[in-house]
Amino acid sequence: MKKAILVSMAVLAVIGAAVAFADTDALVGACIYKFDDTFMTGVRNAMRAEMDRQGGELEIVDSQNRQPMQNDQVDAYISKGANALIVNPVDRTAAQPLMEKAKADDLPIVFVNREPYAEVMNAYDKIWYVGAKAEESGTQSGELIADYFKTHPEADKNHDGKIQYIMLRGEQGHQDAVLRTEYSVKALKEAGFEIEELGSDTANWDKVQATDKMKGFISAVGVDKIEAVLANNDDMALGAIEALKAEGYNTGDPAKYIPVVGVDATAPALEAMKDGSMLGTVLNDADNQGIAAVKVAVLAADGKEVNNETVGYSITDGKYIWIPYRKVTTENYQELMK
Ligand code: GAL
Ligand code: CA
Repeated sequence: MKKAILVSMAVLAVIGAAVAFADTDALVGACIYKFDDTFMTGVRNAMRAEMDRQGGELEIVDSQNRQPMQNDQVDAYISKGANALIVNPVDRTAAQPLMEKAKADDLPIVFVNREPYAEVMNAYDKIWYVGAKAEESGTQSGELIADYFKTHPEADKNHDGKIQYIMLRGEQGHQDAVLRTEYSVKALKEAGFEIEELGSDTANWDKVQATDKMKGFISAVGVDKIEAVLANNDDMALGAIEALKAEGYNTGDPAKYIPVVGVDATAPALEAMKDGSMLGTVLNDADNQGIAAVKVAVLAADGKEVNNETVGYSITDGKYIWIPYRKVTTENYQELMK
């Protein structure tokens, strides 16, 4: 008897919790530029978890890296009566028509991760952007390399007082690729280092492409000439590490080590830090970006005010939510392992 009462109380508590969180019946339609992207998969999972907490309905579709397909997906969401949209554009320079579709229907639209131009952001009042300041991650990844050279003077293998590096860039035109490249180099200079770029190319955020590009650089300049690798994201850093490993580098022999840094702090990158093949990374906070996007979308869908208090994140210029980056080193990477 006693047991039965306890069990039913437990059941009631669970139902109570579920009811307490079912505070919206909004339908939010989301498009992700492509599902096959490690970092965006993290954002997608965080969005899903947040909507589960809120009790509304979230549909997420894969835009398969095709802008025309994404435009159709947005049309489909609008005609089925979605109350708000979350869009991770395929091409951030093509966000205008998406904004216009939302505006024509007075529908809130939240862009994530790929920042539309300011004129698009300023042309509608129910538009928001959730992302991170790419400059910050560029600076922090450059600092990781600078700090390494300060504490390891032997990393200047040819003793010429310069850091000879390879740069692996993300997708052409993506604000994160442009700014991370620029600011990581700037950070090296600001730390007082002379630098020499041995090679720089885009690998489109992709691990396999990065391995190929890195192999090309290795055969062009010789692995022993390379003193550092800066990659705009972790997948590309891991791709470069594959190519280095094929040369017997970064597998544990301290005489054969080249510091490699990325951005994102994905699970495989943290593993690589643990096994010593990767120097460091920068946390690109997928969880908070996903949560913030859903919170804004739901509030706006329900006609509620979107402000610092209601969202729980600070909003700049009424429409931008910037989630901070964080440097990840051998001292703190373990805190991020899930
Ligand atoms: C960046 C991230 C990359 C990739 C890209 C997609 O912020 O660092 O790994 O996910 O977004 O737009
Ligand atoms: Ca050197």
